[in-house]
Amino acid sequence: MPKPVYDFRSDTVTLPTPAMMEAVARAPLGDSGRGDDPTVNELERIARELTGKEDALFLPSGAMANLASVLAHDCRGGEAIVEEVAHIYNSEGGGLSVVGGAVPRPVKGRYGTLEPADVKSAIRGAGDLALAPTRLICLENTHNASGGTVMPVATMAAIHDIAREAGIPVHLDGARLLNAGAYLDVPIAEICRHVESVWFALCKGLGGPVGAVLAGDGAFMTKARRAAKMLGGGMRQAGLIAAPAIVALKDPYPVLRRDHALAQALARGLAAIDSSLVDLAHVQTNIVNCFVDRFAPDAGAINAALRERGVLANHRRSKIRFVTHYHIDEAAVAAAVRHFAEVLEPFRKAA
Ligand SMILES: Cc1ncc(COP(=O)(O)O)c(C=O)c1O
Repeated sequence: MPKPVYDFRSDTVTLPTPAMMEAVARAPLGDSGRGDDPTVNELERIARELTGKEDALFLPSGAMANLASVLAHDCRGGEAIVEEVAHIYNSEGGGLSVVGGAVPRPVKGRYGTLEPADVKSAIRGAGDLALAPTRLICLENTHNASGGTVMPVATMAAIHDIAREAGIPVHLDGARLLNAGAYLDVPIAEICRHVESVWFALCKGLGGPVGAVLAGDGAFMTKARRAAKMLGGGMRQAGLIAAPAIVALKDPYPVLRRDHALAQALARGLAAIDSSLVDLAHVQTNIVNCFVDRFAPDAGAINAALRERGVLANHRRSKIRFVTHYHIDEAAVAAAVRHFAEVLEPFRKAA
């Protein structure tokens, strides 16, 4: 019998469910570049309703949604305030600058949440000719690198007040925005109220195969549609990939809350092996960051040993990241904890 594989590398590894595949087979299609694909149009209608924004656009990826937003917000030659380890700054190949022309101004957050006062003091006006003026404030909710942590709505509102006073738009990388909504138990429109542009991924916790939807109002979206077309984001019979996303968006919170509960169980299991491994207070959604510093300066060997046993995760320096998703269940969590305890034992003895 083949050895079971427990894939915790990301919530992007999910495969479409049978209901999603049936929806693909039934989806009415057309040339979405001409507004003729009824399935894409329906997905965009749902996204408008969910976000409370005037317009929404289906795009092939989240990175493209970020780029189209930076271009549409006219950031070239100006600064974009970003959290220090935000995905848009730290994990998108420098596209913010290379394509968007923006100078990133990293600000250190606390578990991914920026302090409104820190944002305020990072804003640069246009008065001093030596400075690149602030053109955009970028937020990320949930915050991937911090372990899927959630930025409170009140903090977003406070940052939005500061931004409005300074005449600067706020952009939200909401790759896992529905995870944030499920955690906070609010409709995502409550979160989106505090930003001018927002996108959420369809291919992460939601389980769709491809894409993201970018949403915003009036003139911003006119520019974003042009920018996306320029970036190569114009699609044709894209209903094929929009149809599974529509299925996923029917009632997403119970599915995501199940992922969150499994992440809690995994985090508690790891913490029971050694309390230094996990910061339990900050496991909020579907990501568990496990820190092995006490046992090894680099997590590579531990992660490789886990992989040998069929437990797949990502690592960077002394951190191993586990992500729960549709194909992870209680048995996978129990197996991961058991294998982790066994793999750690020699490192524990040597430490
Ligand atoms: C927070 C965050 N932003 C942006 C992205 C990029 O999304 P995509 O892979 O769809 O380009 C990711 C991908 O994992 C992400 O986690």
